[in-house]
Amino acid sequence: MSSQRQETVKRLTVPDIRARKGGEPIVMLTCYDAPTAGIMDPYCDVLLVGDSVGMAVHGLSSTVGVTLEMMILHGQAVMRGAKRALVVIDMPFGSYEAGLETAYANAVRVLKETGAQAVKLESGPTAPATIDYLVKRGIPVMGHVGLLPQSINIDGSFRAKGKDEAERARILQSARDTADAGAFSVVIEGVAESLAREITETIDKPTIGIGASAACDGQVLVVSDMLGMFEWTPKFVRRYADLRGEIDRAAAGYAEDVRSRRFPAEVETYFSKKPAAT
Ligand code: KIV
Repeated sequence: MSSQRQETVKRLTVPDIRARKGGEPIVMLTCYDAPTAGIMDPYCDVLLVGDSVGMAVHGLSSTVGVTLEMMILHGQAVMRGAKRALVVIDMPFGSYEAGLETAYANAVRVLKETGAQAVKLESGPTAPATIDYLVKRGIPVMGHVGLLPQSINIDGSFRAKGKDEAERARILQSARDTADAGAFSVVIEGVAESLAREITETIDKPTIGIGASAACDGQVLVVSDMLGMFEWTPKFVRRYADLRGEIDRAAAGYAEDVRSRRFPAEVETYFSKKPAAT
């Protein structure tokens, strides 16, 4: 029998995250590929395969064009890289709004084909009924209120939400309905501190903020924003790296070395062995 001990990392579960209400802040980042998942996994409680992949990786101008197949492909990659974090996968626009059974069939595909433990969906008017239907059938759901990027064609821009009293009340009600429908946690995006605080104090599920102040039970950022991949980042993003600058410097250095024949050098070259003297 082998004496080698098998290293096993226990993956966080939906109840683990649910239990963090009012406790240790939940650390969540978006993630779209296996190597990045492997690097970020030890530091994150939740990795979200966000439909922001459409903009961050595929160069789309919004998340509306993202398909279920794209989410499944990126979800599979992230699951290969992440061992400890709970992996949550966004349901893309058009995959859950038309009817409860379609939403269920698509969410089942996501969980079966990726091995992830939960889905996230944006809490538009039909979302509470959908969340209730999915949760009762064994699919954990994370909700998402405030700025809803999939509604860009209704809203016309990605501006912060809840600025007037009517909109504020609607978002608070949506967060209540989302939590009551059985969501295990709720993302709050792009709202003022006072509204994020009120939602966090009102609902009994952990809130995870993005552009929603520190008054949440956790925080999420789009990984490409916090790594500095874009020239412009929104006010609420803190850049922890300058990957755009690093990649630019690396590409320029490589191009210069190839053009000046400094790359490849001898150390980067294979040589055939000299035939042995007879
Ligand atoms: O798709 C995404 O990246 C998201 C975050 C903004 C929470 O939904």
